[in-house]
Amino acid sequence: MTRPTLVDRDRACVWHPYTQMLTAPPPLPIVRGEGAYLYTEDGRRLLDGISSWWVNIHGHSHPRLNAALAAQAAELEHVVFAGCTHPPAVDLAERLLAVLPPGLTRVFYSDNGSTAVEVALKLATQYWGNRGEPSRQSFVALHHAYHGDTVGAMSASEDSIFTRPFSPMLFTVHRAHAPYCYRCPLGLERATCSIECLGDLEQQLTKHGNAIAGVLVEPMLQGAGGMIVWPAEFLAGVRRLCDRYGVLMIADEVLTGFGRTGRMFACEHAAVSPDIICLSKALTGGYLPLGATATSEAVYEAFLSDDRTKTFFHGHSFTANPLACAVAIASLEVFHDTGALDRVRDLEGWLREGLDPLASLPSVGEVRVIGGVGIVELVTDKTSKAAAGYLDNVGPRLSAAFLDRGLLLRPLGNILYFMPPYVVTESETAWAIEQIQDVLTGSGL
Ligand SMILES: Cc1ncc(COP(=O)(O)O)c(C=O)c1O
Repeated sequence: MTRPTLVDRDRACVWHPYTQMLTAPPPLPIVRGEGAYLYTEDGRRLLDGISSWWVNIHGHSHPRLNAALAAQAAELEHVVFAGCTHPPAVDLAERLLAVLPPGLTRVFYSDNGSTAVEVALKLATQYWGNRGEPSRQSFVALHHAYHGDTVGAMSASEDSIFTRPFSPMLFTVHRAHAPYCYRCPLGLERATCSIECLGDLEQQLTKHGNAIAGVLVEPMLQGAGGMIVWPAEFLAGVRRLCDRYGVLMIADEVLTGFGRTGRMFACEHAAVSPDIICLSKALTGGYLPLGATATSEAVYEAFLSDDRTKTFFHGHSFTANPLACAVAIASLEVFHDTGALDRVRDLEGWLREGLDPLASLPSVGEVRVIGGVGIVELVTDKTSKAAAGYLDNVGPRLSAAFLDRGLLLRPLGNILYFMPPYVVTESETAWAIEQIQDVLTGSGL
């Protein structure tokens, strides 16, 4: 009898995320990673074109991150963070505050991107309660938003097939236009518009007035909702409106943080500082789950009181896990020492040069590039911009075609994107774009 493979064993006992277990193709048995590549049990080499769900930045199995992890494991693997502290948590907070947009002074740790957002929503709600304005309990978020899979993060996310089964659990979040220029909600053209779409956010803030606690956005790049790249003027406008209406601006930089958009943080594109910022994914270089929610001193101070009910009663067993913090510190060091931002800017140039010509293909509606992310929005009709949705088979079909060629991509329906670790080379990028072009021209889309 032959021994069952890893995939056989997986199929017998594991349930995968975002996967229809009845019909999905077998999972890829990945046994090793090195640099921008993943290796399968049966010896295939795959270029990681999605940075392993947008988390990896320095490449897989990085020697310095490995060493930091091993060294920390030998010292202290974990300790409760209520009532205790430890060097990696403090070092990391100091280093984060040194690179975050100005005005952010406190770091609250959690486990992942969704909890970083959940913490932000809870902090904002209690901030207003503690300040004697408990009516400010609602949020404004944008169309096409994705903020995670916990209940608060789902509530803030766009109503979609991701959230619909859970709608009875979700709370109401007011929604305003996103600056999706290719499909402008107002039918305008970016070349001639004045970011009129911001008006919708202002209307929401006017309409709901003192009921609003904060505005939650994914600055510059809305990810899972369609890889939508913003004009920086919209981001500047969000800050302006939050100031004008006296509400908190919450930046979900879970995807965009740590260089992904070509700046350390996407808020820098418009030189704005949010009142609260959410971080995860590349925070640990993509090694370990860790979330961080950083706030301004004003937010922090609203929780300081002799009245203990004003305490922020929130925490997770693995808050500020020392292993994750130690790797995050090493990741920031590697980021600095290897000139990661320069690499992302180079990558941006290669992506523009290689992907822009694809815009003329009949199946391509728009090519968008920001930092280390290249996006190709596919359409079934260029004139009407009609497109297949997330559930259409185009995504899985494309994924399978790229896999055959040794490229791991995971299109969001008709939104094809390439988001590799920053260590990807110019020739690897050119190769990946060649695969994209070949598949798009040969796929009969
Ligand atoms: C902008 C944004 N926020 C939050 C999340 C949720 O992060 P996690 O998957 O770590 O819970 C994601 C995940 O893709 C994201 O892109």
